[in-house]
Amino acid sequence: MHPMLNIAVRAARAAGKVILQGYERLDRVEAETKSANDFVTNIDKDAEQVIIETLLNAYPDHSIVAEESGISGAEKSDFQWIIDPLDGTTNFMRGVPHFAISIALKHKDRLDQAVIYDPIRDELFTASRGAGAQLNGYRIRVTNKPDLNGTLLATGFPFKAKHHLPAYTAIFADLFEHVGDMRRAGSAALDLAYVAAGRVDGFWEIGLKPWDIAAGELIVREAGGIVCDFVGGHNHLKSGNVVAANPRVTQRLVKTMQPHLGEALKR
Ligand code: IPD
Ligand code: CA
Ligand code: CA
Ligand code: CA
Repeated sequence: MHPMLNIAVRAARAAGKVILQGYERLDRVEAETKSANDFVTNIDKDAEQVIIETLLNAYPDHSIVAEESGISGAEKSDFQWIIDPLDGTTNFMRGVPHFAISIALKHKDRLDQAVIYDPIRDELFTASRGAGAQLNGYRIRVTNKPDLNGTLLATGFPFKAKHHLPAYTAIFADLFEHVGDMRRAGSAALDLAYVAAGRVDGFWEIGLKPWDIAAGELIVREAGGIVCDFVGGHNHLKSGNVVAANPRVTQRLVKTMQPHLGEALKR
């Protein structure tokens, strides 16, 4: 395993411990509202601190961008870690056992290393650029479905940006005619990891953040999949509008979405 991936795995497992301890005593967890329907708990923050400490301890000259604490570490570095300490906070708070830690490393603006860790199931999804994607050390691949027929897709609802609801429901209705079924499990990082592992055939969501996407993107790509924006371009880390699947399914997804996209979603 690449030494930087190894450190990221150590950080993710340490955060996993913090999160599981919090999960055992949910009555003691303190939650704040960031914006409508969007929460953060003391456990999100504690897990993030453990991750940042582990990474900066090993690489003090790297820079960090993390969901809850923003930018830290070195001001300028070719190495940037992108961290979501707890993806699926709402599930966590409600006692729904489906959430993950997501850590990616960019080197000179290219995704290089990635970890998504599900502490409940002890499932570790990893990838290093050019070296494939793994689940607990075993190679994973996206499915080889030729089109949307019979596919199982993952998605997320635009609960933080409800002005996108008309476009979302129009896309959903059109897609639903063509696919087998859809899931809304509540963790974008795990949705992407599951695409990589072939547990679902594809994923789409509006308005994600870089820390929801970065690790999953590399893992999907290294599993033979494509991650792109709603027009098949490369703006998804900025726009947060993400499609992921094998190349043929991605093409079908993007094509089906086109008629329903206003200007804001065409990137
Ligand atoms: C959220 C989850 C969810 C997605 C949201 C994200 P968080 O991340 O990934 O599945 O629908 O858009 O914000 O806030 O729990 O880290
Ligand atoms: Ca959040
Ligand atoms: Ca997230
Ligand atoms: Ca989070």
